[in-house]
Amino acid sequence: MWSPIALAVLYFISYGVGLGQQSVISFIEGPLQLAGGTAVATLILSSSDFPGVLRAGQDLSTDFGRVTGKNLTISTKDQTTSDQSPTSGPAIIAGTLGKSKLIDSLVSAGKIDISKIQGQWESFTTTIVTDLMPGLGSALVIAGSDKRGTIYGIYDISEQIGVSPWYWFADVPSAQQTNIFALDVNKVQGPPSVKYRGIFLNDEQPALMNWVKEKYGGVGYVSGFYTRVFELLLRLRANYLWPTMWDSMFALDDTKNQPLADNYGIVMGTSHTEPLMRSTKEQQKYAGSWDWTSNKANIIKFLTDGAKRAKGYESLYTMGMRGSGDTASSTLNAASLADVVSEQQKILTSVLGGNISTISKMWCLYKEVGGYYQKGLKVPDDITLLWSDDNSGNMQRLPIPSEVGRSGGAGVYYHFDYVGDPRNYKWINTISYQKTWEQMHLTYARNARQIWVVNVGDLKPLEIPINHFLDMAYDMTLHSTTNSTNTWLTQFSALQFGTPLSTQIASLLNTYSHLAARRKYELLDSTTFSITNYNEADIVLSEWHTLVSSSQSIYDSLPTSSQPAFFELVLHPAKAGSILYDLYVNTAKNNLYAKQGRASASAYGDLATKAFQADKDLAGVYHKLLGGKWNHMMDQTHIGYTSWQQPSANNMPALSTPAKSASASPGVFVDGGSTTLALPPMSPYGPASRWIDVFAKSDTAASFTISSDPWVKLSPSSGQLAVSGLTSEQRVNITIDWSTVPSGSTTSKIVVTAGSTSSTVTLPLSNILVPKDFSGFVESDKTITIEPEHWSTVTFSSDASYAIIHGYGRTLSGVTLLPHSIPTQSPPSSPRLSYDIYLFTSGTASITVYLSASLNTDPSRPLSYAISIDDATPTKAQYVPITDLGTLPSTWHDGVVRNGYDHVTKHDVTAGAHVLSLWAVEPGVVFQRVVVDLGGVRTSYLGPPESVRV
Ligand SMILES: *[C@@H]1O[C@H](CO)[C@@H](O)[C@H](O)[C@H]1NC(C)=O
Ligand SMILES: *[C@@H]1O[C@H](CO)[C@@H](O)[C@H](O)[C@H]1NC(C)=O
Ligand SMILES: *[C@@H]1O[C@H](CO)[C@@H](O)[C@H](O)[C@H]1NC(C)=O
Ligand SMILES: *[C@@H]1O[C@H](CO)[C@@H](O)[C@H](O)[C@H]1NC(C)=O
Repeated sequence: MWSPIALAVLYFISYGVGLGQQSVISFIEGPLQLAGGTAVATLILSSSDFPGVLRAGQDLSTDFGRVTGKNLTISTKDQTTSDQSPTSGPAIIAGTLGKSKLIDSLVSAGKIDISKIQGQWESFTTTIVTDLMPGLGSALVIAGSDKRGTIYGIYDISEQIGVSPWYWFADVPSAQQTNIFALDVNKVQGPPSVKYRGIFLNDEQPALMNWVKEKYGGVGYVSGFYTRVFELLLRLRANYLWPTMWDSMFALDDTKNQPLADNYGIVMGTSHTEPLMRSTKEQQKYAGSWDWTSNKANIIKFLTDGAKRAKGYESLYTMGMRGSGDTASSTLNAASLADVVSEQQKILTSVLGGNISTISKMWCLYKEVGGYYQKGLKVPDDITLLWSDDNSGNMQRLPIPSEVGRSGGAGVYYHFDYVGDPRNYKWINTISYQKTWEQMHLTYARNARQIWVVNVGDLKPLEIPINHFLDMAYDMTLHSTTNSTNTWLTQFSALQFGTPLSTQIASLLNTYSHLAARRKYELLDSTTFSITNYNEADIVLSEWHTLVSSSQSIYDSLPTSSQPAFFELVLHPAKAGSILYDLYVNTAKNNLYAKQGRASASAYGDLATKAFQADKDLAGVYHKLLGGKWNHMMDQTHIGYTSWQQPSANNMPALSTPAKSASASPGVFVDGGSTTLALPPMSPYGPASRWIDVFAKSDTAASFTISSDPWVKLSPSSGQLAVSGLTSEQRVNITIDWSTVPSGSTTSKIVVTAGSTSSTVTLPLSNILVPKDFSGFVESDKTITIEPEHWSTVTFSSDASYAIIHGYGRTLSGVTLLPHSIPTQSPPSSPRLSYDIYLFTSGTASITVYLSASLNTDPSRPLSYAISIDDATPTKAQYVPITDLGTLPSTWHDGVVRNGYDHVTKHDVTAGAHVLSLWAVEPGVVFQRVVVDLGGVRTSYLGPPESVRV
């Protein structure tokens, strides 16, 4: 907990924040003062450098203004070290090898060491050089190996002085600094881990499209919009973009778009379904019938024009072909596809000239195209194979050993937003950062490193997943352990909101991502979480409420300048999610309680109605923020789905009214929902409490009293029920004084007298203790539930060990075997997780292991685990069926909806102490939970709460 007052936000950071990259800036001291005192540095660029470098330099100048109130002055004289310096004060010199005379002359004079960056992709070195030209003392020199190397070097300074890449797109203000110093470092950064790193703006109706229409004069996705996106991408050290395509044509909507992308330094592509730089809408308008068999000549001409139009601009060409508008084609087959690609290679060679192998191009094996590949379709070696996830964040396939040597390499197309089966998810952020880490870490280990592109919907509500994905793509070495995500979230929070609050904000972001990823908002309804078992819905709801109140108290403590950014990135998603859970949990209570004739049902209905209105109001707050800057960004419907496609409007779930039953006696309902009023059993090993609801049914007020054995504690044991509203019911908490319960198994009767009737509730009690020397998980309610990170013992091998991914999955964490490069494991001798358990029940145990929703990325090595009790031969369980490429397993739908696979094995057990062992047989298996069912497991979404460990 923290006190908002103690945090009267001192933005006191001594070093530049750079998301884990080496610091080159200090606000306290350093050999070269760039701002503060009498110093105002001059930024020296070279007019012969790339326009994109000069433009980024302009941003750096403005960024100094954002932080200190004074812009840098810029000099672009094309000079060498023997010329007179244009400034006598401190300087920052930035330029590209071979493009900036000044940088080249520094290299020839031996003043900077470029050995680690020369010839490297997108690399730079930053260092202080003294006495480098007449009239100038020292300068901070940034030398880039190529255009983006220099640009990233420039934005590295922007970021370290405290300008967030999200200063515009998420309204993050910069902390003000009096002094800025350069540190005495020799920094080398790059080349990036992944060569092409980008986003796909997609599924852009209604939010982004309505917003763009309003903000950019109703003429679509014009360069005013795109230059914002290009700048954001470069500040995020990305380089690649698939533009919007639902109703737009990047190259034609504004003819400045394509040259400007190149000018900024962005490599343009088109989505997986749009070959040779032509958009879907162009296909529909200009290509004639999109059918290779009947219209080949026209299509070739159409594609040739696409290549001609892109000539001279840095592009990454999409190859292949699908049907019209992102669908499977009914006429294409493996042979015609091979012909398509061969013609496309010819077009590129003839239009662009030179060596086809050096032209960047990719083929996305999305959906049906994967099927042709598996059946033997040859993809030329120099085309990057772009593997895709299942649209829900689970990679379907990654390079297998025979594919690793391809000269074009491999990449991935990933999703943070999707329109399609099982259901759209395009409202707000539902991404688990821990899951993204796990899948991208796997992707990197499996050598898919040429292209990473992610579908980000409208961009706006997905700021953090985007930043996280692109940072991993840029430098995977900073994301090498299961803890990397938490470290990254703290660094991200520090850059947006200052160091003092960064750990608390990171924890809020992590909690949000964990809660939101349990199930997509669009898949929630009133039946998702149980209101009768394990207090599940109430616990989940209270987790959301805690998140909101913690977020709100930080928001209240922030300076007003930071509040809009905090609202957009932290508070809004927390509130929006919480409201939806309020809506569905209260609807569930209304529906069930109305059936029971409870007078309070209407009050829950009112709470649900209020939540529905609160959802609308919250979108209104978002839309009014900063004078309407983000109007329409929350236009997306998200309540009332009945199929995969979104509803046309948010629809309030159906509420019920309790039947009137004139002067009926109050009713009784028990924990677990038994119609015979039998409570689930209790034991010293949990749960700590059970409950009974006593509720008024009619318009008559009533009193009640409850009595039972002396060891059964009832709170309260009597009370008054109002005629209506929430006080017309009373939840009675039952706890047990185990020191006085008779030993062995007994059943307590609990008599509820209300109005003129009495009801008898039964409560089985089992006061049987485990042997004193046992330690481990103890059965209660014929169940043992284990969070895998709570192992009793774990064994490692010389090349593999289990690691905890904190906050992964639906409950506590995930446990996986790393590194991802290990071969297939052989239980029982391979690394093992063991759990000491104590059973009171003999018979057949159904043991459900909850696993991540990941898929078989290598069809010859399907995901599987092994499980055993004591020394029995391990039972091997393969839980994701192998399918043809481009086809999803039959269990996939459920796996995605529930965000995980639940796999059951059966084991004969006897009462007493045992050891349950688990082995991951392949890397990529992530254990999330183990539930041993001896006949007591009840319906719920998350499973029973974790058992007591003694
Ligand atoms: C810095 O330059 C930018 C862009 O030219 C300008 O909009 C801004 O007002 C300047 N800031 C200061 C503090 O002079
Ligand atoms: C084309 O480029 C590739 C990759 O750089 C190279 O291996 C190959 O030798 C080149 N082919 C010709 C004909 O120059
Ligand atoms: C990861 O974090 C956990 C808890 O946050 C800590 O116990 C553990 O030591 C950390 N591991 C590494 C490798 O830093
Ligand atoms: C019921 O009792 C348990 C055990 O004392 C306590 O943790 C819990 O908060 C109580 N629940 C309510 C609703 O009072």
